[in-house]
Amino acid sequence: MLLYLFLPLLSSSSILVTAAAGMGEAKVTMLIAYPTTLVFNSTYYLANHVPAVAAAWKPYGLTGYRALQSQYSPTEGAAGDPYAMIFEAEWPGMDAVNDMLTKTPAEEKQRFEEDEKRFTDRAPAVWFMGVGAQG
Ligand SMILES: *[C@@H]1O[C@H](CO)[C@@H](O)[C@H](O)[C@H]1NC(C)=O
Repeated sequence: MLLYLFLPLLSSSSILVTAAAGMGEAKVTMLIAYPTTLVFNSTYYLANHVPAVAAAWKPYGLTGYRALQSQYSPTEGAAGDPYAMIFEAEWPGMDAVNDMLTKTPAEEKQRFEEDEKRFTDRAPAVWFMGVGAQG
């Protein structure tokens, strides 16, 4: 149950409907949150997985990203933090996300699934948010 197993769900009609409803140009943040778990290798994740994903998504319009790390050691249970790591990926809109979801080659998805097993044993939560307000 890794990230790319979620992506076929994300490419379902609900997202396409949202884009068709005229919200395709609204900036969207994709959040990929890895639950606190005994297995999370942030060294590997930050050095290998993040750069690979960022490079793969850039051609589809990724405009920026941040990997936010729990301030408690994930390997010690993170003392109540629900997530060990939250990856924020900025997209110009859902059209770009849909492009990424539908055009990423199967072999590449497979490669990321395999890579995910190298740093965690838990499925991340994946969702999208728009900006309500900012300062
Ligand atoms: C975490 O990943 C780093 C970098 O690949 C590796 O050197 C280290 O041995 C890994 N740690 C564990 C506990 O697997």
